[in-house]
Amino acid sequence: MDTLAYFINKYGIDITKESPFKLSISRETDIPQIFKELGFKIGAEIGVYRGAYSETLLKAIPGLKLSGIDLWEIYPGYRDYRKTDISEAQKEALERTKDYDCTLIRGWSNEIVKKFADESLDFVYIDGNHAFEYTVQDIALWSKKVRKGGVVYGHDFEDWSHNWRRFDMGVINAVTGWCRSYQIHPWFIIGKDKHPGWLYVKA
Ligand SMILES: C[S@@+](CC[C@H](N)C(=O)[O-])C[C@H]1O[C@@H](n2cnc3c(N)ncnc32)[C@H](O)[C@@H]1O
Repeated sequence: MDTLAYFINKYGIDITKESPFKLSISRETDIPQIFKELGFKIGAEIGVYRGAYSETLLKAIPGLKLSGIDLWEIYPGYRDYRKTDISEAQKEALERTKDYDCTLIRGWSNEIVKKFADESLDFVYIDGNHAFEYTVQDIALWSKKVRKGGVVYGHDFEDWSHNWRRFDMGVINAVTGWCRSYQIHPWFIIGKDKHPGWLYVKA
């Protein structure tokens, strides 16, 4: 199936207009269903935390082989979680994913990526460190691992500058800048959830 044609037809996208296109769809229900309809079977999630979204994907997509990459450690400059919280998270992720074809790999996303062959994934879900430089790095490294017609997809396309953790607008600036720099069009905002996501189909 032609993935881009699927999105354009399903959501009536007028590609003569400018990207991004906001889709009123949710990461919890619609995206797993879309990946199932597209026949996606091999994916990677960058940033697993407690494995809640890994489990959502694995439950909804029959036969999905998922690699989940996470450092499960607080490091300087990473402000999302407290130490106690993150150390329990790996155990919970293992428990949630143990009945599925899921491999959890502990390490830095920019190191673990070297284990994956280029164009070997149907999708990547980027939800690790949301700071600008990490987001750009994850998109640059992991998008190479997605096959043509696969989906590069991520979370938290939002302005966090008023949040106590002060992530600022790392994801918005990284994704917008990436898509502009590489003339990626169309690209989409997954806009139905409290925390929006973003995606594009790899050309
Ligand atoms: C927002 S959470 C992931 C949530 C998960 N995707 C979900 O929806 O349930 C972000 C995770 O990214 C991990 N992380 C942050 N920076 C990382 C890096 N450079 N390499 C690998 N993992 C990282 C953190 O340890 C944390 O568990």
